[in-house]
Amino acid sequence: MKTGAIGLFDSGYGGLTVLSEIRACMPRYDYLYLGDNARAPYGNRSYERVYQFTLEAVKWFFDKGCHLVILACNTASAKALRTIQQVDLPKLDPDRRVLGVIRPTAERIARFTRSGHVGVLGTDGTILSRSYELEIAKLHPRLAVTGEACPMWVPLVENREHDKPGADYFVKQHLDRLLQRDPKIDAIILGCTHYPLLIGKIQEYLPDKVTAIPQGKEVAESLLDYLHRHPEMEVKCTKGGTVQYYTTDSPEKFNQMASLFMNEPVDARKTSLEITK
Ligand code: DGL
Repeated sequence: MKTGAIGLFDSGYGGLTVLSEIRACMPRYDYLYLGDNARAPYGNRSYERVYQFTLEAVKWFFDKGCHLVILACNTASAKALRTIQQVDLPKLDPDRRVLGVIRPTAERIARFTRSGHVGVLGTDGTILSRSYELEIAKLHPRLAVTGEACPMWVPLVENREHDKPGADYFVKQHLDRLLQRDPKIDAIILGCTHYPLLIGKIQEYLPDKVTAIPQGKEVAESLLDYLHRHPEMEVKCTKGGTVQYYTTDSPEKFNQMASLFMNEPVDARKTSLEITK
């Protein structure tokens, strides 16, 4: 039987917030992280582009021996996951799996709200797709969901401005808009894997009764549960406790930034996605 690492994909650094929670929850597995930094951000790209880039990444992971790939990116989960699962996977290899981050977050959201009013912050792509509204309506039909796109937040993180004073304006602006649209909101999903880096500022501008929910822990718990329920997949995931990092842009830049996210030195390799078959 062929075995491999668990793959995690993001347009850039954001998926590292998911990787660090997954590793904390399941340290014995091997992980392979790929950031498509050369083509980030994905947030305001078309469906076709995000789908094409994400499919290239999935093929790359399969070439590297991964049987299980997590799209640790809401934009890719919103715009590409369903087509990849339904159209591409049966042709590429029906025994491999590609999972996203929206469904596990939507599944767990009900436990965070008392008012039944939930907010979602995400990229243009995620919010316009209405993926959270649709998933939550299926799972928790009584919850009222309001989305707010925050197109400046990913560039703030990717450019290391997220903890600088200039970021405050954009953080406050979107939180105010969301809460003006539905003042009963008491739980807000950070529906973009970059946003946990802004959590300090987000909490500063939120009223006390409102909780911001980063999704890394929710995704990690959901993956743990998935591997329990799918022993046939679990045995295909290697267990050496390692992480390998790849980026489509400069590894030096990636290492600098990723070591901040991961709180440890990171040694990434450069790769290219376009050449993948
Ligand atoms: N981190 C990604 C997400 O969760 C995408 C950010 C971007 O590339 O715009 O949506």
